[in-house]
Amino acid sequence: MEFKAIVDAKVGHEAGCAVVGVYEDGGLGVAARRIDGQLDGLIAKLHGGGDFSGKLGDVLLLPAPAGAAAARLLLIGLGSRSGFGRKQYRKALQFTVQSLVKTGASDAVIYLALEPVADLDVHYRARAVAEVFCVQLYKIPDLKTSAKPKAPRLTSVSVAVADVRAAKAAAEGLRIGAAVGSGTTLSRDLANLPPNICTPTYLGTRALALAKKFPSIKTKVLDESAIKALKMGAFLAVTQGSDQPPRLIVCEYQGGKKSAAPVCLIGKGITFDSGGISLKDPPTMDEMKFDMSGGATVLGTLRTVAELKLPINLVVIVPTCENMPSGGAVKPADIVTSMSGQTVEILNTDAEGRLILCDAITYSRRFKPAAVIDVATLTGACIVALGNHYSGLMSNNEALANELNAAGLRADDRAWRLPVGEEYVEQLKSNFADIANVGGREGGASTAASFLSKFAKDLAWAHLDVAGTAWLGGAQKGSTGRPVPLLVDFLLNRTRAT
Ligand code: BES
Ligand code: MN
Ligand code: ZN
Repeated sequence: MEFKAIVDAKVGHEAGCAVVGVYEDGGLGVAARRIDGQLDGLIAKLHGGGDFSGKLGDVLLLPAPAGAAAARLLLIGLGSRSGFGRKQYRKALQFTVQSLVKTGASDAVIYLALEPVADLDVHYRARAVAEVFCVQLYKIPDLKTSAKPKAPRLTSVSVAVADVRAAKAAAEGLRIGAAVGSGTTLSRDLANLPPNICTPTYLGTRALALAKKFPSIKTKVLDESAIKALKMGAFLAVTQGSDQPPRLIVCEYQGGKKSAAPVCLIGKGITFDSGGISLKDPPTMDEMKFDMSGGATVLGTLRTVAELKLPINLVVIVPTCENMPSGGAVKPADIVTSMSGQTVEILNTDAEGRLILCDAITYSRRFKPAAVIDVATLTGACIVALGNHYSGLMSNNEALANELNAAGLRADDRAWRLPVGEEYVEQLKSNFADIANVGGREGGASTAASFLSKFAKDLAWAHLDVAGTAWLGGAQKGSTGRPVPLLVDFLLNRTRAT
């Protein structure tokens, strides 16, 4: 898909389709009003006559209306004008994509919400266009033998702006939005692959391929003997029941000064979580192929950052293995020594994410990071608490938590703060080791995070539990690529702040 910014204040552009917005109350948008002048008041008539209400979700395609320069006109309901903002705008864009792909147009010009709205500047408007188009047009890399892949008709999307200065801002927004789109796509592709293809070894080769494509990334992939040499006893306990060898993926991106402390992103990379000896129930066990979504999103974020050449330093760490039962698998009551030296009693082998992450957090210390953020499909309890709307956000650092929260709001990839701390660590007491890996049903998302907090002492650390947000189940089963948009926005904002 090609994205462009064009100066076309009069809605006179020849295009396969012109997309204009109509508010539910308060009438036509700026572009619709202008184009209506060329159309003899057709849109106003449709709006006034009750044929097009302008409700969010309403769409109407007008083929070749007399007087219009474009071959088609697509009216998009924008909803209520008062309080119109980012969320509504993004929703309108989603409906735009869904309607546009059903038309014969190969190119479109977007005139949506041209009027100035408080938190919708030109840059943001353009960025959201590229992002929403990429996300909505995503195709699962399926292994169906019957499907004939159709080339998409729509190949070019332009954002109309008022003047040359605005065009510059829009072009920059489109560049960022498209890069977020390609990072999200990488993340979704990896997560959607079946676990017999997307193994730890496979993830390692994909990370190496990323480094080959972007010379600003240096990647190393550690094998089992190297992981043993690091004394990652908690990580090794999870992998020991599997026939697939584990990997520790470490990618370093240098876009800032050599001396600048990096941000460390750690992603849970369980390529299949059977539960191990504490075996899961069958009904939705297949969805545990998505248990490497955290790893996929930090690699996707890395791709976006490298594509945008952001002036920051970033380290991405993905501990990756399978969690399987076998005669050699770790058992409930086994005690292991983590890389930090703390001993862990494994009471439930299905609480494996925290075991691989705690060693990765300890490993991250060697980079003297400015912040460490782990991303993980960590607990079913987080889904019970927040559904699939918000990622759980837990942190030992107020400023970092606020930064991530704000990034989620800006990127429309929201997180909700949940508690972490000593009260929950209490639940993890063990009679036999320094800490147990489970702490009962109550507050499950917070006990998991609090387990991790024991390994993040003195680090500026945050944890995103994306169990509910990283993929959708049911008929829409598939990866969402969240929280790539949140993470990219967080990093982008850091380049502006410093
Ligand atoms: N990967 C799962 C978490 C999960 C479960 C994500 C369902 C999405 C949907 C994780 O490894 C796990 O099994 N967690 C357990 C922890 C429990 C044993 C304390 C859980 O949430 O049930
Ligand atoms: Mn598990
Ligand atoms: Zn898991």
